[in-house]
Amino acid sequence: MPDAAIVNAFDKTAIEKAAEIIRSGGLVAFPTETVYGLGCDACNSLAVARIYEVKARPRIDPLIVHAADPESARKYGLIPKSAEVLVSRFWPGPLTLVVPKLDVVPSIVTAGLATVALRVPAHPAALELLKISGCAIAAPSANPFGYVSPTEARHVAAQLGDKVDLILDGGPCPVGVESTIVSLVGEKPVVLRTGGVAIEELESILGKVELTTYEQDRPESPGQMKRHYATRTRLEISEETPSNVEPTERIGLLSFTAPASCNGFAAVEVLSPSGDLREAAANLFGALRRLDDSGLSRIIARPVPEIGLGLAIMDRLRRCSAREE
Ligand code: TXA
Ligand code: MG
Repeated sequence: MPDAAIVNAFDKTAIEKAAEIIRSGGLVAFPTETVYGLGCDACNSLAVARIYEVKARPRIDPLIVHAADPESARKYGLIPKSAEVLVSRFWPGPLTLVVPKLDVVPSIVTAGLATVALRVPAHPAALELLKISGCAIAAPSANPFGYVSPTEARHVAAQLGDKVDLILDGGPCPVGVESTIVSLVGEKPVVLRTGGVAIEELESILGKVELTTYEQDRPESPGQMKRHYATRTRLEISEETPSNVEPTERIGLLSFTAPASCNGFAAVEVLSPSGDLREAAANLFGALRRLDDSGLSRIIARPVPEIGLGLAIMDRLRRCSAREE
């Protein structure tokens, strides 16, 4: 397939073209406030199958269904009354709710599960695409399975450009890490993935919530593989600067704030000079990609404080650093 056109996501004609592609069963990469998604009509099983294929994603890993507003989302899943407070507080926004699925959702979307993940994104271009297409859009992050998620249109073009029908360019994603996923199917809400909505914000509404960690293999969150969001280059989380480095070794540093010294590092990325975890999250995946493309033998990532968006940042770094077993 020839490389997909990259068009301005804020151009009405471009959105209309994208909407037409979605309606006719094609694949469109589009910006959301978290990361770029690779979307198709959620009710078109063949189009959904193509998403799994293009991403080389295991069929056991379900997709998120995106809707234009809470009313449309309710056509696809049963949102419990107790969750309305989350809906009104966080939608549109980086929160995904796992709820019992309704029959209109093809089973390929949910990988056969009786639940569906629903989200109303906050990006204006994503909302326009949802509204104009009139479809719910099933969309994983627009990256090959297991790799770092894309936060710019050119990240999508570099890896999946020849496999999608159109790329909408809405500039860099403002949040930069994926949505927080909360399961509402058990007795109590459970956070399946930390993300753009900080746990503290959720807990201010729900009280203390259970948090699954990356070590756990949980069947209810099949996509939360231990090694994920991974660079090709080996990454270690460490406060230490490596000693006895081979002269041929090129080591990269991923630092939260400006490091005291860059000595010994062949490439350095600073996530937030002012120490702002939101800014750090927005810069995380771009910085990881640049380091990954710098011909390094390994990357040292400094830990960030595990509060606010720092929790999602550390989750992604831990998964990136996990070795294949
Ligand atoms: O911010 C985001 O959520 C982005 C943008 C594009 O919306 N999407 C995203 O999708 O991160 P993806 O496919 O990369 O991650 C979705 C996660 C997977 O870990 C998947 O296993 C989980 O959501 N998921 C989807 N449906 C589920 C379900 N019914 N039960 C439990 N987990 C589910
Ligand atoms: Mg993903």
